[in-house]
Amino acid sequence: MKLFRSLFHSSPPIIILLLTIFTLFVFHFHNVAAATCHPDDESGLLAFKSGITSDPSNMLASWKRGTDCCAWEGVTCLTGKRVTSLYLSSQTDNPNSFLSGTISPSLSKLRFLDGLYLLNLRNISGTFPDFVFNLPNFQYIYIENNKLSGPIPARIGNLTRLDVLSLAGNRFTGSIPSSISGMTQLTQLKLGGNLLQGSVPDGIRKLRNLTYLSLEGNQLGGPIPDFFSSLTNLRTLELSRNKFSGKIPPSISTLASKLAYLELGHNSLSGRIPDFLGKFKALDTLDLSSNRFSGTVPRSFGNLTKIFNLDLSNNLLVDPFPEMNVKGIESLDLSNNRFHLKEIPKWVTSSTIIFSLKLARCGIKMKLDDWKPAETYFYDYIDLSGNEIQGSPVGLLNRTEYLVGFWASENKLRFDLKDLKIVKTLKYLDLAKNSVFGKVPSAVAGLEKLNAGTCIAEPIALEMSKLKTDKGYIARNPQEDLACGFQGK
Ligand SMILES: *[C@@H]1O[C@H](CO)[C@@H](O)[C@H](O)[C@H]1NC(C)=O
Ligand SMILES: *[C@@H]1O[C@H](CO)[C@@H](O)[C@H](O)[C@H]1NC(C)=O
Ligand SMILES: *[C@@H]1O[C@H](CO)[C@@H](O)[C@H](O)[C@H]1NC(C)=O
Ligand SMILES: *[C@@H]1O[C@H](CO)[C@@H](O)[C@H](O)[C@H]1NC(C)=O
Ligand SMILES: *[C@@H]1O[C@H](CO)[C@@H](O)[C@H](O)[C@H]1NC(C)=O
Repeated sequence: MKLFRSLFHSSPPIIILLLTIFTLFVFHFHNVAAATCHPDDESGLLAFKSGITSDPSNMLASWKRGTDCCAWEGVTCLTGKRVTSLYLSSQTDNPNSFLSGTISPSLSKLRFLDGLYLLNLRNISGTFPDFVFNLPNFQYIYIENNKLSGPIPARIGNLTRLDVLSLAGNRFTGSIPSSISGMTQLTQLKLGGNLLQGSVPDGIRKLRNLTYLSLEGNQLGGPIPDFFSSLTNLRTLELSRNKFSGKIPPSISTLASKLAYLELGHNSLSGRIPDFLGKFKALDTLDLSSNRFSGTVPRSFGNLTKIFNLDLSNNLLVDPFPEMNVKGIESLDLSNNRFHLKEIPKWVTSSTIIFSLKLARCGIKMKLDDWKPAETYFYDYIDLSGNEIQGSPVGLLNRTEYLVGFWASENKLRFDLKDLKIVKTLKYLDLAKNSVFGKVPSAVAGLEKLNAGTCIAEPIALEMSKLKTDKGYIARNPQEDLACGFQGK
Protein backbone atom coordinates (compact mmCIF):
# COMPACT_ATOMS: atom_id res chain seq x y z
CA MET A 1 0.00 0.00 0.00
CA LYS A 2 2.86 2.27 0.83
CA LEU A 3 4.35 1.77 -2.58
CA PHE A 4 1.08 2.68 -4.29
CA ARG A 5 0.51 5.78 -2.22
CA SER A 6 3.96 7.09 -2.99
CA LEU A 7 3.39 6.30 -6.66
CA PHE A 8 0.45 8.67 -6.77
CA HIS A 9 2.63 11.44 -5.44
CA SER A 10 5.21 10.96 -8.18
CA SER A 11 5.15 12.75 -11.48
CA PRO A 12 2.92 11.13 -14.17
CA PRO A 13 5.70 9.83 -16.50
CA ILE A 14 7.19 7.81 -13.68
CA ILE A 15 3.80 6.36 -12.79
CA ILE A 16 3.29 5.34 -16.37
CA LEU A 17 6.76 3.81 -16.51
CA LEU A 18 6.23 1.90 -13.28
CA LEU A 19 2.79 0.74 -14.36
CA THR A 20 4.27 -0.47 -17.63
CA ILE A 21 6.93 -2.43 -15.82
CA PHE A 22 4.29 -3.80 -13.46
CA THR A 23 2.11 -4.84 -16.44
CA LEU A 24 5.05 -6.47 -18.19
CA PHE A 25 5.89 -8.33 -15.00
CA VAL A 26 2.32 -9.58 -14.57
CA PHE A 27 2.12 -10.56 -18.23
CA HIS A 28 5.43 -12.39 -18.03
CA PHE A 29 4.50 -14.09 -14.80
CA HIS A 30 1.19 -15.13 -16.33
CA ASN A 31 3.03 -16.69 -19.28
CA VAL A 32 5.37 -18.60 -17.04
CA ALA A 33 2.43 -19.79 -14.99
CA ALA A 34 0.61 -20.97 -18.12
CA ALA A 35 3.60 -22.83 -19.55
CA THR A 36 2.62 -25.91 -17.67
CA CYS A 37 1.93 -28.36 -20.43
CA HIS A 38 3.38 -31.70 -19.49
CA PRO A 39 7.09 -32.05 -20.42
CA ASP A 40 6.37 -35.38 -22.16
CA ASP A 41 3.69 -33.72 -24.29
CA GLU A 42 6.03 -30.85 -25.14
CA SER A 43 8.94 -33.07 -26.08
CA GLY A 44 6.72 -35.46 -28.07
CA LEU A 45 5.27 -32.57 -30.05
CA LEU A 46 8.68 -30.99 -30.62
CA ALA A 47 9.90 -34.37 -31.92
CA PHE A 48 6.93 -34.35 -34.32
CA LYS A 49 7.97 -30.86 -35.42
CA SER A 50 11.55 -31.95 -36.05
CA GLY A 51 10.22 -34.76 -38.27
CA ILE A 52 8.70 -32.06 -40.49
CA THR A 53 11.26 -31.08 -43.10
CA SER A 54 9.28 -28.37 -44.84
CA ASP A 55 6.50 -26.07 -43.60
CA PRO A 56 6.31 -23.24 -46.14
CA SER A 57 3.14 -21.67 -44.69
CA ASN A 58 4.55 -21.70 -41.13
CA MET A 59 1.76 -23.89 -39.80
CA LEU A 60 3.92 -24.85 -36.83
CA ALA A 61 5.30 -21.36 -36.11
CA SER A 62 3.67 -21.27 -32.67
CA TRP A 63 5.34 -24.55 -31.63
CA LYS A 64 8.16 -23.12 -29.48
CA ARG A 65 9.95 -24.82 -26.61
CA GLY A 66 9.15 -23.25 -23.23
CA THR A 67 5.73 -21.96 -24.27
CA ASP A 68 2.46 -23.62 -23.33
CA CYS A 69 2.06 -26.46 -25.85
CA CYS A 70 -1.67 -26.49 -25.16
CA ALA A 71 -1.80 -23.15 -26.99
CA TRP A 72 0.10 -24.36 -30.03
CA GLU A 73 -1.64 -24.41 -33.40
CA GLY A 74 -3.63 -27.62 -33.77
CA VAL A 75 -3.06 -28.87 -30.21
CA THR A 76 -5.97 -29.50 -27.83
CA CYS A 77 -5.57 -30.28 -24.13
CA LEU A 78 -8.12 -31.74 -21.77
CA THR A 79 -7.92 -33.89 -18.67
CA GLY A 80 -5.59 -31.83 -16.50
CA LYS A 81 -3.69 -30.02 -19.21
CA ARG A 82 -2.64 -33.13 -21.08
CA VAL A 83 -2.66 -33.12 -24.89
CA THR A 84 -5.63 -35.10 -26.18
CA SER A 85 -5.70 -34.31 -29.89
CA LEU A 86 -3.56 -33.02 -32.68
CA TYR A 87 -5.39 -31.41 -35.61
CA LEU A 88 -3.47 -30.01 -38.56
CA SER A 89 -5.09 -29.18 -41.86
CA SER A 90 -3.83 -27.22 -44.83
CA GLN A 91 -5.69 -24.46 -46.60
CA THR A 92 -6.77 -26.20 -49.78
CA ASP A 93 -6.73 -22.99 -51.84
CA ASN A 94 -3.14 -22.16 -50.88
CA PRO A 95 -0.59 -24.27 -52.80
CA ASN A 96 2.07 -23.35 -50.24
CA SER A 97 0.05 -24.73 -47.38
CA PHE A 98 1.50 -28.23 -46.92
CA LEU A 99 3.87 -30.18 -44.70
CA SER A 100 6.67 -32.48 -45.80
CA GLY A 101 8.25 -35.09 -43.56
CA THR A 102 7.19 -38.08 -41.51
CA ILE A 103 5.11 -38.69 -38.37
CA SER A 104 7.50 -39.00 -35.42
CA PRO A 105 7.06 -42.15 -33.29
CA SER A 106 7.68 -39.88 -30.29
CA LEU A 107 4.02 -38.89 -30.42
CA SER A 108 3.58 -41.98 -28.21
CA LYS A 109 4.89 -39.79 -25.37
CA LEU A 110 1.53 -38.02 -25.47
CA ARG A 111 -0.09 -40.56 -23.14
CA PHE A 112 -3.52 -38.96 -23.32
CA LEU A 113 -3.64 -38.43 -27.07
CA ASP A 114 -6.76 -40.04 -28.48
CA GLY A 115 -7.14 -38.30 -31.83
CA LEU A 116 -4.74 -37.63 -34.68
CA TYR A 117 -6.06 -35.46 -37.51
CA LEU A 118 -3.56 -34.79 -40.29
CA LEU A 119 -5.75 -33.53 -43.10
CA ASN A 120 -4.72 -32.54 -46.62
CA LEU A 121 -1.13 -31.91 -45.58
CA ARG A 122 -0.26 -33.42 -48.99
CA ASN A 123 3.37 -34.36 -48.41
CA ILE A 124 3.52 -36.28 -45.12
CA SER A 125 5.16 -39.59 -46.04
CA GLY A 126 6.39 -42.73 -44.32
CA THR A 127 4.43 -45.77 -43.17
CA PHE A 128 1.42 -46.20 -40.89
CA PRO A 129 2.16 -44.43 -37.57
CA ASP A 130 2.87 -47.43 -35.32
CA PHE A 131 3.02 -45.23 -32.23
CA VAL A 132 -0.77 -45.53 -31.91
CA PHE A 133 -0.32 -49.16 -30.83
CA ASN A 134 1.31 -47.83 -27.66
CA LEU A 135 -1.75 -45.73 -26.88
CA PRO A 136 -4.55 -48.21 -26.21
CA ASN A 137 -7.20 -45.51 -25.79
CA PHE A 138 -6.75 -44.07 -29.25
CA GLN A 139 -10.11 -43.29 -30.86
CA TYR A 140 -9.74 -41.18 -33.97
CA ILE A 141 -7.25 -41.58 -36.81
CA TYR A 142 -7.76 -39.20 -39.71
CA ILE A 143 -4.71 -39.15 -41.96
CA GLU A 144 -6.27 -37.93 -45.20
CA ASN A 145 -4.68 -36.75 -48.42
CA ASN A 146 -1.06 -37.28 -47.57
CA LYS A 147 1.56 -39.63 -49.01
CA LEU A 148 1.72 -42.43 -46.49
CA SER A 149 2.65 -45.75 -48.05
CA GLY A 150 3.32 -49.40 -47.28
CA PRO A 151 0.80 -51.89 -45.93
CA ILE A 152 -1.92 -51.30 -43.37
CA PRO A 153 -0.40 -53.28 -40.45
CA ALA A 154 -2.11 -56.55 -39.51
CA ARG A 155 -2.18 -55.57 -35.85
CA ILE A 156 -4.54 -52.69 -36.67
CA GLY A 157 -7.22 -55.09 -35.41
CA ASN A 158 -5.81 -54.58 -31.94
CA LEU A 159 -7.05 -51.00 -31.89
CA THR A 160 -10.32 -52.24 -30.48
CA ARG A 161 -11.32 -48.84 -29.10
CA LEU A 162 -10.93 -47.02 -32.39
CA ASP A 163 -14.01 -45.07 -33.43
CA VAL A 164 -12.76 -43.73 -36.79
CA LEU A 165 -10.07 -45.03 -39.10
CA SER A 166 -9.59 -42.80 -42.11
CA LEU A 167 -6.52 -43.25 -44.27
CA ALA A 168 -8.21 -41.86 -47.38
CA GLY A 169 -6.06 -40.38 -50.12
CA ASN A 170 -2.67 -41.91 -49.40
CA ARG A 171 -0.57 -44.61 -51.07
CA PHE A 172 -1.24 -47.63 -48.90
CA THR A 173 -0.67 -50.94 -50.68
CA GLY A 174 -1.45 -54.59 -50.04
CA SER A 175 -4.77 -55.95 -48.89
CA ILE A 176 -7.14 -54.82 -46.17
CA PRO A 177 -6.06 -56.92 -43.14
CA SER A 178 -8.70 -59.41 -42.05
CA SER A 179 -7.90 -58.49 -38.44
CA ILE A 180 -9.92 -55.34 -39.10
CA SER A 181 -12.86 -57.40 -37.83
CA GLY A 182 -11.54 -56.75 -34.33
CA MET A 183 -12.20 -53.02 -34.48
CA THR A 184 -15.77 -53.49 -33.34
CA GLN A 185 -16.27 -49.92 -32.13
CA LEU A 186 -15.56 -48.43 -35.56
CA THR A 187 -18.23 -46.08 -36.82
CA GLN A 188 -16.26 -44.87 -39.85
CA LEU A 189 -13.86 -46.83 -42.04
CA LYS A 190 -12.47 -44.77 -44.90
CA LEU A 191 -9.71 -46.27 -46.97
CA GLY A 192 -10.58 -44.64 -50.31
CA GLY A 193 -8.01 -43.32 -52.74
CA ASN A 194 -5.18 -45.75 -51.99
CA LEU A 195 -3.62 -48.66 -53.89
CA LEU A 196 -5.28 -51.48 -51.96
CA GLN A 197 -5.81 -54.82 -53.67
CA GLY A 198 -7.51 -58.12 -53.02
CA SER A 199 -11.02 -58.68 -51.82
CA VAL A 200 -13.00 -57.04 -49.04
CA PRO A 201 -12.54 -59.05 -45.82
CA ASP A 202 -15.73 -60.77 -44.78
CA GLY A 203 -14.97 -59.83 -41.16
CA ILE A 204 -16.15 -56.29 -41.84
CA ARG A 205 -19.58 -57.75 -41.12
CA LYS A 206 -18.58 -57.66 -37.44
CA LEU A 207 -18.27 -53.89 -37.45
CA ARG A 208 -21.91 -53.44 -36.53
CA ASN A 209 -21.54 -49.80 -35.56
CA LEU A 210 -20.32 -48.68 -38.98
CA THR A 211 -22.19 -45.73 -40.40
CA TYR A 212 -19.63 -44.87 -43.07
CA LEU A 213 -17.79 -47.42 -45.21
CA SER A 214 -15.67 -46.00 -47.99
CA LEU A 215 -13.25 -48.11 -50.00
CA GLU A 216 -13.60 -46.21 -53.28
CA GLY A 217 -10.71 -45.56 -55.63
CA ASN A 218 -8.59 -48.64 -54.94
CA GLN A 219 -7.90 -51.81 -56.90
CA LEU A 220 -10.15 -54.06 -54.87
CA GLY A 221 -11.83 -56.91 -56.71
CA GLY A 222 -14.03 -59.95 -56.43
CA PRO A 223 -17.69 -59.73 -55.54
CA ILE A 224 -19.07 -57.15 -53.13
CA PRO A 225 -19.53 -59.26 -49.96
CA ASP A 226 -23.10 -60.08 -49.06
CA PHE A 227 -22.67 -58.95 -45.47
CA PHE A 228 -24.89 -55.92 -45.19
CA SER A 229 -27.62 -57.49 -43.06
CA SER A 230 -25.36 -56.94 -40.04
CA LEU A 231 -24.39 -53.37 -41.01
CA THR A 232 -27.77 -51.85 -40.38
CA ASN A 233 -26.44 -48.48 -39.26
CA LEU A 234 -24.74 -47.77 -42.56
CA ARG A 235 -25.58 -44.39 -44.10
CA THR A 236 -22.76 -44.15 -46.63
CA LEU A 237 -21.39 -46.94 -48.79
CA GLU A 238 -18.75 -45.89 -51.29
CA LEU A 239 -17.18 -48.63 -53.39
CA SER A 240 -16.75 -46.77 -56.69
CA ARG A 241 -13.68 -47.00 -58.90
CA ASN A 242 -12.49 -50.50 -58.05
CA LYS A 243 -12.63 -53.81 -59.88
CA PHE A 244 -15.66 -55.33 -58.24
CA SER A 245 -17.61 -57.82 -60.32
CA GLY A 246 -20.79 -59.80 -59.95
CA LYS A 247 -24.19 -58.53 -58.91
CA ILE A 248 -25.37 -56.06 -56.30
CA PRO A 249 -25.59 -58.35 -53.23
CA PRO A 250 -29.15 -58.98 -51.98
CA SER A 251 -28.35 -58.06 -48.37
CA ILE A 252 -27.98 -54.41 -49.42
CA SER A 253 -31.78 -54.42 -49.29
CA THR A 254 -31.55 -54.39 -45.47
CA LEU A 255 -30.12 -50.86 -45.65
CA ALA A 256 -33.37 -49.48 -47.07
CA SER A 257 -34.32 -47.24 -44.18
CA LYS A 258 -31.03 -45.40 -43.56
CA LEU A 259 -28.66 -45.55 -46.51
CA ALA A 260 -28.19 -42.10 -48.03
CA TYR A 261 -25.17 -42.59 -50.31
CA LEU A 262 -24.76 -45.67 -52.45
CA GLU A 263 -21.85 -45.33 -54.82
CA LEU A 264 -20.83 -48.34 -56.88
CA GLY A 265 -19.74 -46.59 -60.09
CA HIS A 266 -16.75 -47.53 -62.26
CA ASN A 267 -16.56 -51.23 -61.47
CA SER A 268 -17.44 -54.33 -63.50
CA LEU A 269 -20.76 -55.04 -61.88
CA SER A 270 -23.46 -56.69 -63.94
CA GLY A 271 -26.96 -58.06 -63.79
CA ARG A 272 -30.13 -56.08 -63.33
CA ILE A 273 -30.57 -53.11 -61.05
CA PRO A 274 -32.51 -54.63 -58.14
CA ASP A 275 -36.12 -53.62 -57.57
CA PHE A 276 -35.53 -53.08 -53.87
CA LEU A 277 -33.51 -49.91 -54.46
CA GLY A 278 -36.83 -48.16 -55.04
CA LYS A 279 -37.54 -48.64 -51.32
CA PHE A 280 -34.49 -46.70 -50.17
CA LYS A 281 -36.41 -43.84 -48.62
CA ALA A 282 -33.34 -41.94 -47.41
CA LEU A 283 -31.36 -42.23 -50.64
CA ASP A 284 -29.69 -38.95 -51.58
CA THR A 285 -27.13 -40.20 -54.09
CA LEU A 286 -27.11 -43.32 -56.26
CA ASP A 287 -24.13 -43.89 -58.53
CA LEU A 288 -24.15 -47.06 -60.60
CA SER A 289 -22.29 -45.52 -63.55
CA SER A 290 -19.73 -47.24 -65.77
CA ASN A 291 -20.62 -50.83 -65.01
CA ARG A 292 -22.38 -53.47 -67.09
CA PHE A 293 -25.85 -53.26 -65.63
CA SER A 294 -28.48 -54.42 -68.10
CA GLY A 295 -32.23 -54.65 -68.42
CA THR A 296 -34.62 -51.89 -67.48
CA VAL A 297 -34.43 -49.43 -64.61
CA PRO A 298 -36.97 -50.78 -62.06
CA ARG A 299 -40.39 -49.09 -62.00
CA SER A 300 -39.93 -48.86 -58.21
CA PHE A 301 -37.55 -45.94 -58.86
CA GLY A 302 -40.72 -43.90 -59.17
CA ASN A 303 -40.77 -44.04 -55.36
CA LEU A 304 -37.37 -42.38 -54.97
CA THR A 305 -38.99 -39.02 -54.36
CA LYS A 306 -36.07 -37.49 -52.48
CA ILE A 307 -33.09 -38.54 -54.52
CA PHE A 308 -30.81 -35.64 -55.45
CA ASN A 309 -28.05 -37.26 -57.47
CA LEU A 310 -28.64 -40.11 -59.89
CA ASP A 311 -25.92 -41.44 -62.16
CA LEU A 312 -26.72 -44.49 -64.28
CA SER A 313 -24.47 -43.52 -67.20
CA ASN A 314 -22.37 -45.93 -69.23
CA ASN A 315 -24.29 -49.14 -68.71
CA LEU A 316 -26.40 -51.34 -70.98
CA LEU A 317 -29.78 -50.19 -69.73
CA VAL A 318 -32.82 -50.23 -72.00
CA ASP A 319 -36.26 -48.57 -72.27
CA PRO A 320 -38.67 -47.85 -70.80
CA PHE A 321 -37.24 -45.40 -68.30
CA PRO A 322 -39.58 -45.24 -65.27
CA GLU A 323 -41.76 -42.28 -64.48
CA MET A 324 -39.94 -40.56 -61.62
CA ASN A 325 -41.68 -38.49 -58.95
CA VAL A 326 -38.64 -36.74 -57.60
CA LYS A 327 -39.32 -33.18 -56.46
CA GLY A 328 -35.95 -31.64 -57.19
CA ILE A 329 -33.10 -33.50 -58.81
CA GLU A 330 -29.68 -31.82 -58.48
CA SER A 331 -27.65 -33.89 -60.87
CA LEU A 332 -28.66 -36.54 -63.36
CA ASP A 333 -26.57 -38.59 -65.76
CA LEU A 334 -28.23 -41.21 -67.94
CA SER A 335 -25.71 -40.93 -70.79
CA ASN A 336 -24.55 -43.80 -72.96
CA ASN A 337 -27.12 -46.46 -72.32
CA ARG A 338 -29.69 -47.79 -74.78
CA PHE A 339 -32.44 -45.36 -73.90
CA HIS A 340 -34.73 -43.61 -76.36
CA LEU A 341 -36.11 -40.90 -74.12
CA LYS A 342 -37.39 -38.76 -77.05
CA GLU A 343 -37.63 -35.74 -74.73
CA ILE A 344 -35.85 -34.34 -71.71
CA PRO A 345 -37.97 -35.83 -68.88
CA LYS A 346 -40.50 -33.54 -67.20
CA TRP A 347 -39.18 -34.25 -63.70
CA VAL A 348 -35.84 -32.84 -64.88
CA THR A 349 -37.35 -29.80 -66.56
CA SER A 350 -39.34 -28.94 -63.44
CA SER A 351 -36.41 -29.13 -61.00
CA THR A 352 -35.54 -25.77 -59.51
CA ILE A 353 -32.23 -26.91 -58.03
CA ILE A 354 -30.58 -28.83 -60.86
CA PHE A 355 -26.95 -27.99 -61.63
CA SER A 356 -25.80 -30.87 -63.80
CA LEU A 357 -27.73 -32.58 -66.58
CA LYS A 358 -26.04 -35.19 -68.74
CA LEU A 359 -28.17 -36.97 -71.31
CA ALA A 360 -25.62 -37.84 -74.00
CA ARG A 361 -26.81 -40.44 -76.50
CA CYS A 362 -30.19 -40.88 -74.85
CA GLY A 363 -32.30 -40.79 -78.05
CA ILE A 364 -33.64 -37.29 -77.52
CA LYS A 365 -35.36 -35.86 -80.58
CA MET A 366 -36.86 -32.58 -79.43
CA LYS A 367 -36.27 -29.04 -80.60
CA LEU A 368 -34.04 -27.33 -78.05
CA ASP A 369 -35.98 -24.05 -78.28
CA ASP A 370 -39.03 -25.97 -76.94
CA TRP A 371 -37.25 -26.95 -73.73
CA LYS A 372 -38.31 -24.56 -70.98
CA PRO A 373 -36.53 -25.61 -67.77
CA ALA A 374 -37.97 -24.18 -64.55
CA GLU A 375 -34.51 -22.97 -63.63
CA THR A 376 -31.31 -22.40 -65.58
CA TYR A 377 -29.53 -20.15 -63.09
CA PHE A 378 -27.72 -22.92 -61.16
CA TYR A 379 -26.63 -24.94 -64.18
CA ASP A 380 -22.91 -25.81 -64.25
CA TYR A 381 -22.97 -28.64 -66.77
CA ILE A 382 -25.24 -29.59 -69.65
CA ASP A 383 -24.33 -32.51 -71.92
CA LEU A 384 -26.75 -33.34 -74.69
CA SER A 385 -24.20 -34.82 -77.12
CA GLY A 386 -25.14 -37.44 -79.67
CA ASN A 387 -28.88 -36.96 -79.77
CA GLU A 388 -31.11 -35.74 -82.57
CA ILE A 389 -31.78 -32.35 -81.08
CA GLN A 390 -32.83 -29.61 -83.47
CA GLY A 391 -33.13 -25.86 -83.19
CA SER A 392 -30.73 -23.52 -81.47
CA PRO A 393 -28.97 -23.49 -78.08
CA VAL A 394 -28.78 -19.68 -78.14
CA GLY A 395 -31.92 -19.10 -76.05
CA LEU A 396 -30.90 -21.72 -73.47
CA LEU A 397 -27.35 -20.43 -73.06
CA ASN A 398 -28.72 -16.89 -72.86
CA ARG A 399 -30.51 -17.94 -69.67
CA THR A 400 -27.55 -19.48 -67.86
CA GLU A 401 -25.37 -17.51 -65.47
CA TYR A 402 -22.69 -19.87 -64.18
CA LEU A 403 -22.41 -22.53 -66.87
CA VAL A 404 -19.00 -24.26 -66.88
CA GLY A 405 -19.49 -26.84 -69.62
CA PHE A 406 -21.89 -27.21 -72.54
CA TRP A 407 -21.57 -30.25 -74.75
CA ALA A 408 -23.95 -30.70 -77.67
CA SER A 409 -21.86 -32.23 -80.46
CA GLU A 410 -23.43 -34.63 -82.96
CA ASN A 411 -26.91 -33.16 -83.01
CA LYS A 412 -28.92 -31.27 -85.60
CA LEU A 413 -28.52 -27.84 -84.10
CA ARG A 414 -28.40 -24.89 -86.46
CA PHE A 415 -27.42 -21.44 -85.24
CA ASP A 416 -25.15 -18.46 -85.59
CA LEU A 417 -22.18 -18.68 -83.25
CA LYS A 418 -22.05 -14.92 -82.85
CA ASP A 419 -25.44 -14.94 -81.05
CA LEU A 420 -24.12 -17.28 -78.39
CA LYS A 421 -23.89 -15.78 -74.92
CA ILE A 422 -20.64 -16.99 -73.43
CA VAL A 423 -20.72 -16.57 -69.66
CA LYS A 424 -17.42 -15.86 -67.91
CA THR A 425 -17.53 -19.18 -66.08
CA LEU A 426 -17.67 -21.28 -69.28
CA LYS A 427 -14.64 -23.50 -69.74
CA TYR A 428 -15.79 -26.24 -72.11
CA LEU A 429 -17.86 -25.76 -75.22
CA ASP A 430 -18.35 -28.57 -77.70
CA LEU A 431 -20.63 -27.95 -80.65
CA ALA A 432 -18.87 -30.15 -83.20
CA LYS A 433 -20.92 -31.87 -85.89
CA ASN A 434 -23.83 -29.44 -85.96
CA SER A 435 -24.68 -26.67 -88.38
CA VAL A 436 -22.77 -23.89 -86.71
CA PHE A 437 -22.08 -20.77 -88.71
CA GLY A 438 -21.10 -17.15 -88.11
CA LYS A 439 -18.14 -15.50 -86.43
CA VAL A 440 -16.45 -16.74 -83.27
CA PRO A 441 -17.33 -14.32 -80.46
CA SER A 442 -14.36 -12.72 -78.74
CA ALA A 443 -15.44 -14.15 -75.37
CA VAL A 444 -14.44 -17.56 -76.74
CA ALA A 445 -10.81 -16.61 -76.09
CA GLY A 446 -11.36 -17.39 -72.39
CA LEU A 447 -12.42 -20.99 -72.97
CA GLU A 448 -10.16 -23.83 -71.95
CA LYS A 449 -11.50 -26.11 -74.60
CA LEU A 450 -13.53 -25.19 -77.62
CA ASN A 451 -14.69 -27.63 -80.21
CA ALA A 452 -16.86 -25.77 -82.65
CA GLY A 453 -16.64 -28.55 -85.10
CA THR A 454 -16.88 -29.71 -88.63
CA CYS A 455 -19.33 -27.30 -90.07
CA ILE A 456 -17.68 -23.98 -89.38
CA ALA A 457 -16.83 -21.97 -92.48
CA GLU A 458 -13.16 -21.70 -93.27
CA PRO A 459 -12.54 -18.07 -92.26
CA ILE A 460 -13.81 -18.83 -88.76
CA ALA A 461 -11.65 -21.87 -88.50
CA LEU A 462 -8.70 -19.70 -89.44
CA GLU A 463 -9.66 -17.12 -86.90
CA MET A 464 -9.90 -19.87 -84.32
CA SER A 465 -6.50 -21.16 -85.24
CA LYS A 466 -5.14 -17.66 -84.74
CA LEU A 467 -6.74 -17.52 -81.32
CA LYS A 468 -5.25 -20.88 -80.57
CA THR A 469 -1.73 -19.89 -81.46
CA ASP A 470 -2.02 -16.55 -79.68
CA LYS A 471 -3.52 -18.04 -76.56
CA GLY A 472 -2.21 -21.54 -76.15
CA TYR A 473 -4.80 -22.48 -73.53
CA ILE A 474 -7.84 -22.54 -75.75
CA ALA A 475 -7.32 -26.04 -77.05
CA ARG A 476 -5.08 -28.60 -75.49
CA ASN A 477 -5.10 -30.57 -78.70
CA PRO A 478 -5.19 -28.09 -81.59
CA GLN A 479 -4.85 -30.87 -84.18
CA GLU A 480 -8.06 -32.50 -83.08
CA ASP A 481 -10.04 -29.29 -82.95
CA LEU A 482 -8.69 -27.80 -86.14
CA ALA A 483 -9.41 -30.94 -88.08
CA CYS A 484 -13.09 -30.09 -87.94
CA GLY A 485 -12.72 -26.74 -89.63
CA PHE A 486 -10.96 -28.09 -92.65
CA GLN A 487 -12.59 -31.48 -93.05
CA GLY A 488 -16.06 -29.99 -93.07
CA LYS A 489 -15.52 -28.18 -96.35
C1 LIG B 1 7.74 -33.84 -50.40
O1 LIG B 1 8.42 -34.76 -49.59
C2 LIG B 1 9.53 -35.38 -50.20
C3 LIG B 1 10.07 -36.42 -49.24
O2 LIG B 1 10.13 -35.92 -47.93
C4 LIG B 1 10.57 -34.34 -50.57
O3 LIG B 1 11.67 -34.94 -51.22
C5 LIG B 1 9.92 -33.32 -51.50
O4 LIG B 1 10.82 -32.28 -51.77
C6 LIG B 1 8.68 -32.75 -50.85
N1 LIG B 1 7.98 -31.90 -51.80
C7 LIG B 1 7.84 -30.59 -51.61
C8 LIG B 1 7.07 -29.87 -52.65
O5 LIG B 1 8.29 -30.03 -50.63
C1 LIG C 1 -2.74 -57.95 -30.42
O1 LIG C 1 -2.59 -57.86 -29.04
C2 LIG C 1 -2.42 -59.10 -28.39
C3 LIG C 1 -2.42 -58.88 -26.92
O2 LIG C 1 -2.00 -57.62 -26.57
C4 LIG C 1 -1.12 -59.72 -28.88
O3 LIG C 1 -0.91 -60.96 -28.26
C5 LIG C 1 -1.19 -59.88 -30.37
O4 LIG C 1 0.05 -60.35 -30.85
C6 LIG C 1 -1.54 -58.58 -31.03
N1 LIG C 1 -1.79 -58.85 -32.42
C7 LIG C 1 -1.00 -58.38 -33.37
C8 LIG C 1 -1.39 -58.77 -34.77
O5 LIG C 1 -0.06 -57.67 -33.14
C1 LIG D 1 -21.78 -49.97 -30.82
O1 LIG D 1 -22.31 -48.81 -30.21
C2 LIG D 1 -22.99 -49.03 -29.01
C3 LIG D 1 -23.51 -47.71 -28.49
O2 LIG D 1 -23.91 -46.89 -29.52
C4 LIG D 1 -22.10 -49.68 -28.01
O3 LIG D 1 -22.82 -49.98 -26.84
C5 LIG D 1 -21.51 -50.96 -28.57
O4 LIG D 1 -20.60 -51.51 -27.70
C6 LIG D 1 -20.82 -50.65 -29.88
N1 LIG D 1 -20.17 -51.81 -30.46
C7 LIG D 1 -20.75 -52.87 -31.01
C8 LIG D 1 -19.85 -53.92 -31.54
O5 LIG D 1 -21.94 -52.99 -31.10
C1 LIG E 1 -44.23 -47.33 -54.29
O1 LIG E 1 -44.51 -47.50 -52.92
C2 LIG E 1 -45.84 -47.85 -52.64
C3 LIG E 1 -46.04 -47.82 -51.15
O2 LIG E 1 -44.93 -48.35 -50.48
C4 LIG E 1 -46.13 -49.21 -53.24
O3 LIG E 1 -47.47 -49.60 -53.00
C5 LIG E 1 -45.90 -49.14 -54.76
O4 LIG E 1 -46.07 -50.42 -55.32
C6 LIG E 1 -44.51 -48.62 -55.04
N1 LIG E 1 -44.40 -48.39 -56.46
C7 LIG E 1 -43.59 -49.08 -57.24
C8 LIG E 1 -43.61 -48.72 -58.67
O5 LIG E 1 -42.84 -49.93 -56.80
C1 LIG F 1 -31.01 -12.83 -74.23
O1 LIG F 1 -31.60 -12.25 -73.09
C2 LIG F 1 -31.81 -10.87 -73.16
C3 LIG F 1 -32.43 -10.40 -71.87
O2 LIG F 1 -31.94 -11.09 -70.78
C4 LIG F 1 -32.72 -10.53 -74.33
O3 LIG F 1 -32.83 -9.14 -74.44
C5 LIG F 1 -32.15 -11.11 -75.61
O4 LIG F 1 -33.06 -10.93 -76.66
C6 LIG F 1 -31.89 -12.58 -75.44
N1 LIG F 1 -31.28 -13.09 -76.65
C7 LIG F 1 -31.67 -14.23 -77.22
C8 LIG F 1 -30.97 -14.57 -78.49
O5 LIG F 1 -32.51 -14.92 -76.74
